[in-house]
Amino acid sequence: TMALGGSAVAGRRRHVLLFPLAYQGHINPMFRLAGILHGRGFAVTVFHTHFNAPDPSRHPEYRFVPIPDGMSGPAPVAIEDVVSHILALNAACEAPFRDRLAAVLEEYSGDAVACIIVDTHLLSMVEVATKLSVRTLVLRTGSAACLSCFVAYPLLIKRGYLPVQGTELPPYRVRDLMQLGKRHDLTCKLLERVVEAVKASSGIILNTFDALERRELVKLRRDLDMPVFDIGPLHLFSPAAAAESSLLRQDRRCLKWLDARPAASVLYVSFGSLACMSARDLVETAWGIAGSGVPFLWVVRPGLVAADGLTRLPDGFEEATRGRGMVVEWAPQEEVLRHAAVAGFWTHGGWNSTTESVCEGVPMLCRPHFGDQMGNARYVEHVWRVGFEVAGALERGGVEAAIRRLVTGSEGAEMRARAGELKKAAKECTGEAGSSGLAIGKLIDHMLAL
Ligand code: UDX
Repeated sequence: TMALGGSAVAGRRRHVLLFPLAYQGHINPMFRLAGILHGRGFAVTVFHTHFNAPDPSRHPEYRFVPIPDGMSGPAPVAIEDVVSHILALNAACEAPFRDRLAAVLEEYSGDAVACIIVDTHLLSMVEVATKLSVRTLVLRTGSAACLSCFVAYPLLIKRGYLPVQGTELPPYRVRDLMQLGKRHDLTCKLLERVVEAVKASSGIILNTFDALERRELVKLRRDLDMPVFDIGPLHLFSPAAAAESSLLRQDRRCLKWLDARPAASVLYVSFGSLACMSARDLVETAWGIAGSGVPFLWVVRPGLVAADGLTRLPDGFEEATRGRGMVVEWAPQEEVLRHAAVAGFWTHGGWNSTTESVCEGVPMLCRPHFGDQMGNARYVEHVWRVGFEVAGALERGGVEAAIRRLVTGSEGAEMRARAGELKKAAKECTGEAGSSGLAIGKLIDHMLAL
């Protein structure tokens, strides 16, 4: 069973250190990676901020090292706040991380530590580790196509494409690229730091797979000229990890509810852990869902509506949809998507949600909010053709029509068939002789040879 990178179980270099960025969409892939490496014989130590700290009791097999981050106050909501929050976390953690990493290294004396794997948003930690002579790999939680964009940003800005019109990154259009927002300077800095973290590392790990992004991976390898390990979809290797690393309690009652629904009949609706909508959009979404007549499972997370923190469904919605809908605060998403009753996924298009959906053959309605989500929606609609974007102002009539087109229309059935092909391809890639299975072996050999 240890055929690939089997030497990992040997006595030396059997520790791997991890430092995830403390957002759900970044924590999940890092813990999925942890599960893979632990399964191959590595002892795992996780450095983490106090902000969104993991619960060590849910991972008794790992060691946890908290890093004081000096952050207080509520989690960020607007994208500008997320950008400055990430930069602030880097600054605040740098010194305490240096101390704790040095202490851990002293404790695991000799060459027991193979390397540290750091989220690409934590450049300061990459620099600290490099100064302490620890080999560093980075985990980028988005797509290969998105990373190529980040690499190209300085050029796009220099040539005046950003923040204006035109791109040289087909199939992306300008509107599919990450918008720089009000704090233009900060967002540029954030992206530059991602690319710097990548270039300072000894290799990059991507949660994608060959059959999904073959051309994009070729391009990225050409652009970066460094080892790229496409070992995704990570959740297929580490199926229990996301449930254990969930920051909100997953409401499992919805699985029972799905059990009672006919096959391919339900629309699953969730906008991930960060996306916020206006109170008006929530109302249009609700009445669109109600008007479609399609059964639904909807994740309405606390804080989904930004303005006043009050997330309330419109009066009359519950009565209008009684018997054919369920609303939960947070769902066991992987299991929901795997459930036979689910016909389609209305998503914000986060990379985790996108890959989790294609791996279960579930077609998507995309309503991107920020960051890499516009680009992901573009791939869903125009490259893989497993769904389409709900663009423009949200109106209940448009929402209704989009839901019907996806769930009950013949076009939706074609998208479902294509998603089914991707599901098969993902299965093949994650087999022992598949591209991702082989890449895990290569990654481990690389870690041991660093
Ligand atoms: C963010 C960005 O939006 C995303 O584009 C980027 O690539 C990673 O960081 P987020 O917005 O939270 O992440 O979305 P997504 O990437 O889809 O991750 C959400 C995770 O939470 C998924 O793994 C999903 O399975 C999980 N989830 C979501 C639940 O467990 N329950 C839910 O109800 C909803």
